[in-house]
Amino acid sequence: MTIKFEDITDHTGIIINNFDASRDVNDKKIFQIRELIQKKHFICFRNQNLNEDTLLNFARQFGTLESYPEKDKTKKNIQIFNVANVSSEGDHLSEDDPRVVLQKNNSRWHTDSSYRFYPALFSLLYGKEILPKEAVGGQTQFCNMLLAYDDLPKEMKEKLQPLHQVHSYNDIRRLEPSLPELSIEEKQGFPPVTHPLIRIHPDRNMTKSLFFTSNTSLEIGGMSFKEGKELHSWLVNYIENKKFHLTHDWQINDLIMWDNRVLLHRVIPYDYSKYRRAMIRGTVEGTTPVYGPFSQIN
Ligand code: OGA
Ligand code: MN
Repeated sequence: MTIKFEDITDHTGIIINNFDASRDVNDKKIFQIRELIQKKHFICFRNQNLNEDTLLNFARQFGTLESYPEKDKTKKNIQIFNVANVSSEGDHLSEDDPRVVLQKNNSRWHTDSSYRFYPALFSLLYGKEILPKEAVGGQTQFCNMLLAYDDLPKEMKEKLQPLHQVHSYNDIRRLEPSLPELSIEEKQGFPPVTHPLIRIHPDRNMTKSLFFTSNTSLEIGGMSFKEGKELHSWLVNYIENKKFHLTHDWQINDLIMWDNRVLLHRVIPYDYSKYRRAMIRGTVEGTTPVYGPFSQIN
């Protein structure tokens, strides 16, 4: 049976109801899912029943998986990212627990693993515990950066063309100073990298998209601190425009998957001490550097 889907908005996102990610894994279906995500960048698979192993097994169909960047944080599978204010033992964590502070940092627009030389391709996030209906926040919001680029004023496209942003895992500590220091090994594992602010997509006829984050560094290379920060704030404010967005309202047992090359995302903040929210994530590695306008692409 081929996979049936519904569009969410005309530019981003589909919902799939008749697919079981723990069982229906075969080459034909994976091929179809790849085609769908290439076109719509985001997929929500409803009514899944996954555990760490079956999530990772499904994610692995799309490439090699990333491991969590900090040691000793993931008990069983190092490829599982616990996106939760609940510990692996099931305890609701206090607001100042570093694991919760990291969730708060996820409420800043970002793409996953932009701090790697090859940033993430796909992320797959499975909702084990979600907020009750009456709660405020807790949605995952996406921004389509192909549209955001297209809609930029011409002068801004020209201004951004040569610029790069520094992405540094360690810099999360600048935004969230309460996080414990990384070990030397962890820091050495992820030295700062730069990526162009305009990304070229060789698999989309060299189309361009905007590419920046606000969950690590907030400055732009080659500009003064003040000027770079102003430009960065302008960009963050610019992508607040709802016409670029898709907001995912979670249902229990949703599995969502997105393309980090095209979409930024963030969690809408919620009351972290009142509500439990527990998700697990598998992340598919990127395989190429981020191509910018001046990259040599054959
Ligand atoms: C993530 C992330 C957002 C959310 O898992 O990478 O940013 O809604 N999650 O929890
Ligand atoms: Mn993320």
